[in-house]
Amino acid sequence: MNIVIMQGQTLLAATCIVVACSVHSAVCANPFADFFEVIQLTADYAEICYDSVRTYFAETCHDRWIHNNLTGLSNHLNKKLFGQHLALDAVTNHIQRHIQSAEPARALVLSFHGSIGTGKSYVSRIVAEHLYRKGMESQFVHLISMASEFPLEEKVQDFKDQLRAYIESTIADCPRSLFIFDEMNKMPPGIIDTIRPYLESYNKLRGVNYRRAIYIFLSNTAGNGIAEYAYQHWWKGYPREDIKLADVREIIIRTAISTKNELWHGELMDRRLIEFIPFLPLEKSHVMKCVKDNMATSGHKVTDEKVESIVKAISFWPKSEQVFAVFGCK
Ligand SMILES: Nc1ncnc2c1ncn2[C@@H]1O[C@H](COP(=O)(O)OP(=O)(O)OP(=O)(O)O)[C@@H](O)[C@H]1O
Ligand SMILES: [Mg+2]
Repeated sequence: MNIVIMQGQTLLAATCIVVACSVHSAVCANPFADFFEVIQLTADYAEICYDSVRTYFAETCHDRWIHNNLTGLSNHLNKKLFGQHLALDAVTNHIQRHIQSAEPARALVLSFHGSIGTGKSYVSRIVAEHLYRKGMESQFVHLISMASEFPLEEKVQDFKDQLRAYIESTIADCPRSLFIFDEMNKMPPGIIDTIRPYLESYNKLRGVNYRRAIYIFLSNTAGNGIAEYAYQHWWKGYPREDIKLADVREIIIRTAISTKNELWHGELMDRRLIEFIPFLPLEKSHVMKCVKDNMATSGHKVTDEKVESIVKAISFWPKSEQVFAVFGCK
């Protein structure tokens, strides 16, 4: 495959050189023409052509590969994200604003909070797929699992240095990079100091503009508090869609401040650098939609009996009322 691409690139580059020479045939034909000028012009053409050929075949930090399909993102989330009206609006609005701004004031930091299986990783994947043509496979999308990559507290300084070097080289390569930090709640304290300078609204830091990057933090922090709030709301008989972002956001902030080992929120929150996005616990009706969707996309015939029998095997809480799925759609 690579050989074929390389041959294609060579062929196209050679074609470019011939075209360059024929465009400047007047100069070529003139025996008194400045030979070096011809060489320079040809080299310039070849370089331009080579860049466009490379951009065509291999992923580059270019619009062709970072296609920012905002309409697709909004449509996809509207159709395929169930029961998360707060996350749906917040994610689409923040991303849209950030992407559409030629010079964003600072990097976009979205922090997703919720219990197991409510769609945090799922939404971050959908975001990656609609901003980058290669989705999670893109070299500009970086998934970092805090639990597996930063396990030992005594090695925090080494990890900080590595993370700093990683972010700097990545953004120098492509300012429009996406970082997804999974399991943020397992991050040892102090690591966030490393990320903070890149999230502030500095014009440039050592000559590099960090403000076009997007960071998504995923965590279960405040998952229980959000779930309890949603339960109380349900118990009082209010429609789920009446739950307001401001109410649930308060729960996240309160929990994050009081939870030991999660200084990261406190440090960043002071400066209003983070957008907190709650993921509500999923109800039976949402889980049924997940099951149907899964069956349909994997090519199975969807029948009510099959869906019912799958949902019957799923655990719901509270025990007496069986409202929310313990593991969401997982
Ligand atoms: N709200 C949702 N709408 C549609 N599908 C969902 C939703 N939530 C979860 N799913 C489905 O369940 C799968 C598991 O969800 P996901 O991995 O996003 O959970 P999570 O919130 O990241 O959980 P964890 O905290 O355990 O990492 C997804 O791949 C998706 O198929
Ligand atoms: Mg997850």
